[in-house]
Amino acid sequence: MKRDRQTIPIAAIREENSSLRTFTFETSLKAMPGQFIMLTIFGQGEKPFSILDVTKTSFSMTIKKIGPLTERLFQMQVGELVSIRGPYGKAFSTRTDRVLMVGGGYATPPLRFQAKTLRELEVNYLVNINGARSQADLLYVPDFDDYCDRSLIATDDGSLGHKGTAVDVMDAVLSEESFDYIYISGPERMMKAAVEVARKYEIPFEVNLERYMKCGVGICGSCVMDPNGFILCVEGPVVDSIKIDQLEEFGVSHRDKTGRIVAL
Ligand SMILES: Cc1cc2nc3c(=O)[nH]c(=O)nc-3n(C[C@H](O)[C@H](O)[C@H](O)COP(=O)(O)OP(=O)(O)OC[C@H]3O[C@@H](n4cnc5c(N)ncnc54)[C@H](O)[C@@H]3O)c2cc1C
Ligand code: FES
Repeated sequence: MKRDRQTIPIAAIREENSSLRTFTFETSLKAMPGQFIMLTIFGQGEKPFSILDVTKTSFSMTIKKIGPLTERLFQMQVGELVSIRGPYGKAFSTRTDRVLMVGGGYATPPLRFQAKTLRELEVNYLVNINGARSQADLLYVPDFDDYCDRSLIATDDGSLGHKGTAVDVMDAVLSEESFDYIYISGPERMMKAAVEVARKYEIPFEVNLERYMKCGVGICGSCVMDPNGFILCVEGPVVDSIKIDQLEEFGVSHRDKTGRIVAL
């Protein structure tokens, strides 16, 4: 039976670093990488979060403490109840030829889920580039090592892997090897730079976007993108290389929670 909303206890909490925790819930969720759920904390509100992983009996998300709802979540203990609805949104496609993934910061959960899914589908060749400010901010390094044929790291301060950005490494990798498809998830300015590199090598790609989302199901209009009113929560959050060209605000601006357009 499909349940649109479920009230469920937190089953496990794992500290990833000083500002990120992974929350696991023991309930099945039919979700694909790139999709998100709307999480309600009673008396606090509702916000969207990407799915990090699903198993037959559980799902999990990695969440950054950034504002009122996530601060409240970080005070909660195993066994306390939250409510979820979803999954929602358009997932990444599942290419199994020669695939490159480029991720940055706390936007990497969908790529870790994608790497696991592509490995299960027996992807021919999978390379991941994992970027972060420093070694302490890198996520899921052992998992990417397991799922990928090559797992590369870039840190801004050079504390692990290449000193520089994931996009620098992407450019270097593409100058040496050919790929059929690229999946990108990171801060929007980083994705904008990655898109330019993908275009230089003429490789199709998908990016995973974020906009302020209130309803998650195409009703409220808070996530629409200029100039054509693209409804990201329903038509995205994964957007392909053809559609992204129509979204003039990509890498430039977004709407804040009042609907005002502000620079990124
Ligand atoms: C599809 C989607 C998937 C997401 N997945 C994750 C995830 O896996 N892990 C995670 O930690 N967070 C994720 N987020 C972001 C998360 O929903 C927000 O950070 C959320 O607002 C936090 O709620 P809060 O009440 O703690 O902070 P808020 O007060 O709501 O937000 C803190 C600050 O971030 C800004 N902000 C919030 N959401 C967005 C947005 N979408 N775009 C630009 N600025 C924003 C707010 O304006 C505010 O300045 C996702 C967002 C979207 C749209
Ligand atoms: S969040 Fe309401 S229309 Fe997308």
